[in-house]
Amino acid sequence: MSIKGSLYKEDLDTILVLDFGSQYTQLIARRVRELGVYSEIYPWDISPEKISSLSPKGVILSGGPESVTQENTPRIPEIIFNLDIPILGICYGMQTLAEQNGGSVQTSSKKEFGHAELKIEHSSKIFDGLNADNLDVWMSHGDHVSIIPDGFILSASTESAPIAAMEHKDKPYYALQFHPEVTHTNKGKKIIENFIIDVCKSHKTWKLEDLIDHRIKEIKAQVGDKKVLLGLSGGVDSSVTAMLLDKAIGKNLICMFVDNGLLRKNEVQEVTDLFKNKIDLNLEVIDAKKIFYRHLKDVTDPEQKRKVIGRTFIDVFDNESVNLHSSGEINFLAQGTIYPDVIESSESESKEARIIKSHHNVGGLPEEMKMSLVEPLRDLFKDEVRKMGALLGLPGEILNRHPFPGPGLGVRILGEINQENIFILQEADSIFIDELNKEGLYDQVSQAFCVYLPVKSVGVVGDERRYADVIALRAVTTVDFMTAEWSKLPFEFLGRVSNRIVNELEGVSRVVYDISGKPPATIEWE
Ligand code: XMP
Repeated sequence: MSIKGSLYKEDLDTILVLDFGSQYTQLIARRVRELGVYSEIYPWDISPEKISSLSPKGVILSGGPESVTQENTPRIPEIIFNLDIPILGICYGMQTLAEQNGGSVQTSSKKEFGHAELKIEHSSKIFDGLNADNLDVWMSHGDHVSIIPDGFILSASTESAPIAAMEHKDKPYYALQFHPEVTHTNKGKKIIENFIIDVCKSHKTWKLEDLIDHRIKEIKAQVGDKKVLLGLSGGVDSSVTAMLLDKAIGKNLICMFVDNGLLRKNEVQEVTDLFKNKIDLNLEVIDAKKIFYRHLKDVTDPEQKRKVIGRTFIDVFDNESVNLHSSGEINFLAQGTIYPDVIESSESESKEARIIKSHHNVGGLPEEMKMSLVEPLRDLFKDEVRKMGALLGLPGEILNRHPFPGPGLGVRILGEINQENIFILQEADSIFIDELNKEGLYDQVSQAFCVYLPVKSVGVVGDERRYADVIALRAVTTVDFMTAEWSKLPFEFLGRVSNRIVNELEGVSRVVYDISGKPPATIEWE
């Protein structure tokens, strides 16, 4: 389902976010949508035709890692100025706006990163309603505007960035050196709201309730009375996709859940109970445990493991799809692709990169099946997918679940995978998650799990010494999973989890807690 192809979108006011490579670009678009206005992200070098076709009500220029003082660095496309629409430049976006209008930008000897106090120098639409002369803002920059371009005036300053905000005297052009999109900027959301509502005159028409109705109509129009196959993983994205398709086409949706033997304890039962028994979806559970274990025998290299699991998934999915296909034609394949997957996998939208999520791994479907893709969440952020799921009646256990990697417990068992260590890991993990839930800590950490270490360490049971394996507990707190901090779980809590694991599981003699941040470590161990 293409984003542009949606009639509904044509009726929405759109804010275009031009991406200059900032780590916060998605956050800008999310903030705009949270305020009820639709926004789309495109790379700074998209074609002028594409920009015109979006008819944006305004443009936000993101920050970026480059320096406008260098040649051949990104610039604002000329068409943006010709369209006569409001512009808000943030950080790099401000600097290139200044430079392209005849101002100057300098590289500072020291980078500024963190809090700064902003002094509002001039009343401005963008700072309306803040009820403050000074604001706490978040800075992250090396360059700064040193000479304001002709036609612009200073609107705010900080001690280290005398030109921290500027705006055009007559045109609706605004620029901020700080980041209003991050929560550390006090009242940043109000600043964005001032821009998109008061300056751009956008209407708050982006509503997920409306979107659900439109999506259902779109799916019906795309699919008609044909059958659709969906690989359901029990994760948020594929579950919401399933709910939406169920509302649109009912029993013409066939969901396939592959039990690869690397799932959490009771997961197959829980998915079956919910989707088959409660929601009454057409769900096929494929027991492929033996095939996966056979293929994984003697595989110890982490990359190799991922490859084997991915390839085996494709084989199983393909075989089963061919079987289903021959018993009644299936013309469509649905996927729970979401907007960050689309943005992150396509350098440039013009290339129209079609991505297949690694954990669905259905890229290798047999040629002769010629299925078209149905991707009803392709333009939604994760928090929007969760909201949509809640509106569609999915329970909180599914919507607020920690992420679970496609290769499952396969990347949480160091060394060779076998049924015994899978069993130990499933049990240990279930104890950890169970205790987190009991203690009300589950929702306070972003991801928590156990890792199985095949390191024999000594322990005592009664009078006996026993050499058994080690379980590492991992819990992290993160916003975007690109960086993460280890969670500061209470010692008494960790002690309780450790006691339960060593007492209840014979194969474990020691429990350790992972206190590494990302970077330098990663969240998963493999
Ligand atoms: P790392 O270990 O790279 O993990 O810090 C970041 C996030 O990605 C998840 N992850 C995966 N998800 N397939 C997935 O679908 C994978 O192969 C995979 N590896 C890591 C990880 O659980 C964390 O949330």
